[in-house]
Amino acid sequence: MRRGGAKSPPRMCVAVAVLVAGTVWLCASSAGFLGAPYGGYRVKDVDVNKLWTTAGSNGWRASSAPRSYWPPPPYETNGYLRVRCNGGLNQQRSAICNAVVAARIMNATLVLPELDTNSFWRDESGFPGIYDVPHFLKTLKHDIHIVTSLPEITSRRKTKKLKALKIRPPRDAPLSWYTTFALEEMKKYGAIYLTPFSHRLAEDIDDPELQRLRCRVNYHALRFKPHIMKISNEIVNKLQSEGHFMSIHLRFEMDMLAFAGCIDIFTPEEQKILIKYREENFANKTLVYRERRLIGKCPLTPEEVGLILGAIGFANSTRIYLASGEIFGGDRFMSPFRAMFPRLDNHSSVGPEKLEENTRGLAGSAVDYMVCLLSDIFMPTYDGPSNFANNLMGHRLYNGFRTTITPNRKALAPIFMDREEGHITGFEDRVRQVMFNTHFGGPHKRIHPESFYTNSWPECFCHMNPKNPSDKCPSDDPHEGLEGQLQNEKTEDATLTTIESTQTEETMI
Ligand SMILES: *[C@@H]1O[C@H](CO)[C@@H](O)[C@H](O)[C@H]1NC(C)=O
Ligand SMILES: *[C@@H]1O[C@H](CO)[C@@H](O)[C@H](O)[C@H]1NC(C)=O
Ligand SMILES: *[C@@H]1O[C@H](CO)[C@@H](O)[C@H](O)[C@H]1NC(C)=O
Ligand SMILES: *[C@@H]1O[C@H](CO)[C@@H](O)[C@H](O)[C@H]1NC(C)=O
Repeated sequence: MRRGGAKSPPRMCVAVAVLVAGTVWLCASSAGFLGAPYGGYRVKDVDVNKLWTTAGSNGWRASSAPRSYWPPPPYETNGYLRVRCNGGLNQQRSAICNAVVAARIMNATLVLPELDTNSFWRDESGFPGIYDVPHFLKTLKHDIHIVTSLPEITSRRKTKKLKALKIRPPRDAPLSWYTTFALEEMKKYGAIYLTPFSHRLAEDIDDPELQRLRCRVNYHALRFKPHIMKISNEIVNKLQSEGHFMSIHLRFEMDMLAFAGCIDIFTPEEQKILIKYREENFANKTLVYRERRLIGKCPLTPEEVGLILGAIGFANSTRIYLASGEIFGGDRFMSPFRAMFPRLDNHSSVGPEKLEENTRGLAGSAVDYMVCLLSDIFMPTYDGPSNFANNLMGHRLYNGFRTTITPNRKALAPIFMDREEGHITGFEDRVRQVMFNTHFGGPHKRIHPESFYTNSWPECFCHMNPKNPSDKCPSDDPHEGLEGQLQNEKTEDATLTTIESTQTEETMI
C-alpha cells in the first residue's frame, strides 16, 4: 500500500480500525458510509500486492450440484416453453437461467431460448451464434428436456409447426405464476411463448435447489462458442505475457450517462445529445447532477477511476484492459486517466487483426466478458440490475473468489466533490478508507438489492469443513461429470493458464 503525507484523521481512522476491528463502524459512520452493502465486513489495511491474488475463500468453494434428491426430468412433457430474451448480453444470460428454472418446475420442454436481435446490438446470430449449443444441451440433460425448435404436428392430415400461445409474463413473476396460470395455458395449447423475457422470474426463490440450477446454467451450461473463446484466449495470453493485468468495465457511455442523468460535466453540445437520447428512451424525470452523484447514481469518470487506483497504491505501470463501448466525450475524458495509467488496452488495441469484424454486437461483448472473467483483478465503474458488471462479479466469485474492486460511488462522491473544490488534503487517505471497506470478491452475505446473479453465496457454494452440516460439500454427485467439471475448473483456475482448454468438455463457462 502506498503511504504518503503526514498522519491525517482519516488515515488514523483506518489504523485504529485495524487495531480494534470494532471501531470500524464509528469511523465508517463519520465518513458517511454506514449502510455500505457488505454487512459485517471489516476494514483491513490492504497490501496492494495481495489484491493480485484471489480473495480469501474462508473454506468455501463453488458447487452447484444438487444436494438432495433430484429426479431426472419426467418422460412426459406438459408442453413446450418458448421464450424471447431481451436486453444486452447479460440481461439475456440471466433470462436463459430463468427459462431453464421455469421449464423445470413446469415439467416443460424448453425450446432453445431466442436472443434479442434489436437495433442496438445489430446482431442476428442468436443463441447458436454466441453459445455452444451441444454443450448446453449436454450439461442440462439431468435437469430439463431441450429442443432446438418447436416440433411439427399433424392434424387432419396436415403437418405444420406447433403454434405457441403468446403471453407477456409479469415482471419478477413468482414460481406459482408458472405452475398455475402459465401451466394451464401450456396444457391447453401445447406450447406457450413468453415475451419479453427479462426479469420475468423473481430472483429470490425460497428453494436452494432451484437456485443451484440457475448456477448450473449460468456457470456451467452457458459457454461461449469456440471462436469467441479463441479470441478471448489470445487477448488474455497477450495481456498476461508480462505478468498480471486488471480489467475495468468503464461504463462511461452515452446511453448510460443519459439514463443516469449525469450531464453537467459535458459541453453544451454533448449535453444536447444526452438530453435528446434521454427524452427518446427514458421516462421524463428531472435529474439534478449533484444529487444523482451524491446517491451514487453517476458512473465513475475515467479520471476518477485513475484517482482511485492511484490512491489504493497501484503502480502506474499496471496493465489495464478496458471493456467498454465508445467513451462519451472521447479523449477529453480519457487523457487524464491515460496520463496516470499509460498502459491501457481494449479489444481493438490488443486483439488479433481483423478482430473488429469478429466482435461486433453480442460477440464483442462476449469477448470483453471472457477477458474480464479471467483477469486477475476486475473493477466495475457502474452496476445495475442484471448487467455486464453484475454478472461478472457473480461469475468471478464462483470462479474461485477472484479479486473484484467495487468502488462505493456514494461514499466516494463527497470526497471527489471536495477535491474539485480544491480541498485536496487527505484525499488519498479518504479514498483508501472507502476502498478498503469492501470484501474484494470474497464470500459475503447477499443483502437486498444485491442480485442473486451478482452473488450466489451461499446457495452455490459449499464448505470444506462445515460447522453447519447443510453447507457440506456433496461427496457423491448424482450429476455425472458435474463435480468433475468443477475440479478441473479449479485446477485451471489455480494455474490461470489458457482458456483454450475450456473448449473441452471438462470445464464450465
Ligand atoms: C413434474 O413431475 C414430477 C415428477 O414426475 C411431479 O412430482 C410434479 O408434480 C410435476 N409437476 C408439474 C407441475 O407437472
Ligand atoms: C418533461 O417534463 C418537463 C418538465 O417537468 C416538461 O416541460 C416537458 O414538456 C416534459 N416532456 C415530455 C416529453 O413529457
Ligand atoms: C510512474 O511512476 C514512477 C515512480 O513512481 C515515476 O518515476 C514515473 O514518472 C511515473 N510515470 C508516469 C507516466 O506517471
Ligand atoms: C480502443 O483503443 C484505441 C487505442 O487506444 C482507441 O482508438 C479506440 O477508440 C478504443 N476503442 C474503444 C471501443 O474504446
